[in-house]
Amino acid sequence: MSWIDLSGEVAVVTGAGAGIGRGIALGLADVGATLVLLDREDASSTLDEIASRGGRSFFVRCDVTDDGSVGSAAAQSLETFGPATILVNNAGTMRAGQLVDMPIADWQQILSLNLTGYLRCAQAFGAQMLQRGQGSLIHVASISARAPQSFSGAYAAADRRTGRRRQCRRVLGERAG
Ligand SMILES: NC(=O)c1ccc[n+]([C@@H]2O[C@H](COP(=O)([O-])OP(=O)(O)OC[C@H]3O[C@@H](n4cnc5c(N)ncnc54)[C@H](O)[C@@H]3O)[C@@H](O)[C@H]2O)c1
Repeated sequence: MSWIDLSGEVAVVTGAGAGIGRGIALGLADVGATLVLLDREDASSTLDEIASRGGRSFFVRCDVTDDGSVGSAAAQSLETFGPATILVNNAGTMRAGQLVDMPIADWQQILSLNLTGYLRCAQAFGAQMLQRGQGSLIHVASISARAPQSFSGAYAAADRRTGRRRQCRRVLGERAG
């Protein structure tokens, strides 16, 4: 038996269909959380795996770079499981290359996903936490935030996600009292 018990918690994980997000979702489900799985691609393999382990989850196809998609996912999540209590901002990507000749469109795409996507989801699901007066925002980041590599392009710039985390926590903390 685990010493962590998250039963009663509603955890939203972005990018839950593959990689680290899938692993986080399975881990949270294993300790009792109810999962809302968000991904731009199909996440039914994560959904099925959680069900096979006796957990409860719900998949919403959602593009975290799109305001309407995130708003709709937050509404569906609220209707299905009630207010979110945990958000794991994880969906992100890396495109290798140097900044010197990086197309601005590529720069904007990475920032929209890796940085603004985090804020977008924190606003949408954070609003549900504020109504309840508490909640947890978890932002997956990379070592690039502190030690950028020369070929990490926009990834390192977008990876000021640790600063975003502190800011989100402060805002939610002050408003939630
Ligand atoms: N893999 C690593 O070595 C590593 C190291 C440090 C940090 N990270 C961070 O961990 C996080 C996850 O990385 P990963 O390696 O598991 O990535 P991955 O590419 O394996 O999985 C990312 C998931 O996010 C989804 N996704 C992508 N764009 C999306 C969008 N616009 N809306 C919704 N979902 C979207 C994908 O469909 C996929 O399921 C990222 O934030 C990454 O920066 C990864």
